[in-house]
Amino acid sequence: MSKRKGIILAGGTGSRLKPLTNAISKQLLPVYDKPMIYYPLTTLMFANIKDILIIVNKKDKETFKNLLKDGSQWGININYAIQEYPSGIAEAFIIGESFIGDDNVALILGDNLFHGHDLISMLRNTNNSTSGGKVFAYQVSNPEEYGIVIFDKHKNVTSIEEKPKYPKSKFAITGLYFYKNDVIKKAKDIKPSERGELEITSINQKYLDEKDLKVEIMGRGITWLDTGTFEGLNDASNYIRTLEKRQGLKIGCPEEVAWRLGWINKENLIQMANKMINSEYSKYLINIVNE
Ligand code: G1P
Repeated sequence: MSKRKGIILAGGTGSRLKPLTNAISKQLLPVYDKPMIYYPLTTLMFANIKDILIIVNKKDKETFKNLLKDGSQWGININYAIQEYPSGIAEAFIIGESFIGDDNVALILGDNLFHGHDLISMLRNTNNSTSGGKVFAYQVSNPEEYGIVIFDKHKNVTSIEEKPKYPKSKFAITGLYFYKNDVIKKAKDIKPSERGELEITSINQKYLDEKDLKVEIMGRGITWLDTGTFEGLNDASNYIRTLEKRQGLKIGCPEEVAWRLGWINKENLIQMANKMINSEYSKYLINIVNE
């Protein structure tokens, strides 16, 4: 079975979040107690993906590198690439072509946050799946803001549409996509949409035409939030704060995930905690190893 690499798309101008994003990339903004990108990063880690490419704007590359380094501190490999203009999500596979090589790939949007029961097994199973394309559908109250999927009464996919004015379904396609290596070729074959972007929906449409798109519904036991607006960002922070306070457990903490997966040892974890001494985050890391 081929290996699967991971891409986090963290470019874009963050136009809906200005002035917050005037001087800092959206995906580095805080979601409660950690930078936004920690959440999609740990989602890929849970899927057992260790080779990760982060696609960023040119001006933000050094800041991302300062934060995430080469990933070895968390037992993973992090590479960086630049997206010059926000030319669409599907461009990630063209930018990432040499990084992907002959492997399969998973793409996650840097502002998407997933959490919940069964998520880890869902991610692991998907990583091992053999379908050409695999995406997740999630019921939302504002489907017109997303790519959506329309099912027949047997839950077979009949069509997908990008941000339709009058959505025929409440199921949004989340910003987490798993593809076979041929996604690179598909990305090169598609044409920009009316808004001038290489749409991820066009890629999914190609897999659907080939009857090779699998759509799995993420049920109500899973939380999917996107943090691209003031309200979304605040909701996500409140969600994380509420759960972390109640359980005394952190969500989206790469140090903890790496340690629990056995990718780093106790000493590595303590060393990292000691570099952040005084913060509540550091105390948390020390506490979990002493549990
Ligand atoms: C993008 C995709 C859309 C998908 C969404 C998930 O939307 O185009 O199909 O449902 O991400 O977050 P955008 O970020 O361009 O609004």
